[in-house]
Amino acid sequence: MTLAKVPVALGDRSYEVLIGAGLLGGAGAHIAPLLKRPKVAIVSDAHVADLHLTTLTASLDAAGISHSNLSLPQGESTKSWPHLQEVVHWLLSEQIERNDIVIAFGGGVIGDLVGFAASILRRGVRFVQIPTSLLAQVDSSVGGKTGINAPHGKNLIGAFHQPSLVLADIAVLGTLTARDFLAGYGEVAKYGLLGDAGFFSWLEANGPALASGDEALRLEAVKRSVAMKAGIVARDETEQGERALLNLGHTFCHALEAATGYSGRLLHGEGVAIGCALAFETSARLGLCSQEAPSRVRAHLKDMKMKTDLSDIAGDLPDAEGLIALMMQDKKVSAGTLNFIMARDIGSAFVTADVDTAVLKSVLTDALATRA
Ligand code: GLY
Repeated sequence: MTLAKVPVALGDRSYEVLIGAGLLGGAGAHIAPLLKRPKVAIVSDAHVADLHLTTLTASLDAAGISHSNLSLPQGESTKSWPHLQEVVHWLLSEQIERNDIVIAFGGGVIGDLVGFAASILRRGVRFVQIPTSLLAQVDSSVGGKTGINAPHGKNLIGAFHQPSLVLADIAVLGTLTARDFLAGYGEVAKYGLLGDAGFFSWLEANGPALASGDEALRLEAVKRSVAMKAGIVARDETEQGERALLNLGHTFCHALEAATGYSGRLLHGEGVAIGCALAFETSARLGLCSQEAPSRVRAHLKDMKMKTDLSDIAGDLPDAEGLIALMMQDKKVSAGTLNFIMARDIGSAFVTADVDTAVLKSVLTDALATRA
């Protein structure tokens, strides 16, 4: 098996992201060296558990590690106070001690929830991320952002708590629906768009084959995405500056997710892809980049058969002013000013508060007009 290793350099909290096809079958051997005693607690998504739990537990058995599992319902609503309480109380009843390891086995919802539970259990226990969605493998499992949602918005309650190891099994991606895979690809494309024009060109050439199932290409895309994120996190763990670039497309995305009720009408990664296209369009209208850049972004998303435009979102949306009002709820609002991630070119994003609302309104008005 080709095994890629990406280090996340954070001093005494450094860890590795291991990426390979079939890695789940050897998870026990990779986790064993971290353990003070041969016992772990697994918290999984019920759907993922149905598909993959026996592979994980067989590998733990083979490594002589005892295990217990709590399966939670699939879906964003699991990132809530009631499920956080359920996880923490279950871990206590399983007698998970300060030096033990908790395994988060699922997509971004499970990783965020279980990471947060680990951060508060006994004032902090270690955890291992085994991300099973493309989005979780390239983004949410790496970098230590953990948390749950509030009625006021997504991810508003949480902590930075780095995992001790991340195991990304590329073969598991083969069990995702095409829609879920492509939603995760929105985050992959984001890395090229924000900081690596060469990677974006590589995606233009290889994206369709990668989406069709080529595991070598998938491994390369996950490795390059994780390497970029690891570098940014190592330089700016708590998002004082550069890490905000990872939010390219996200201000538009969060407004669209709120407008569609965080429902199946729009998955997070789909919103990121549409948001990246809108961020580049806004950048072009502000004269920051050429019109060729947003055209290239949209052409690639369309080539990937991804949601690209507001016309790809079913049902009603608010008007431009309504969407801007939703954008102002974003976490990146500081002292009433919203920070945007804009771009000077593909691979060259930067943070700015200097976005003229009239330009924003014209971009959104034109984008909404394509829905007519
Ligand atoms: N998902 C954005 C970040 O980890 O900073």
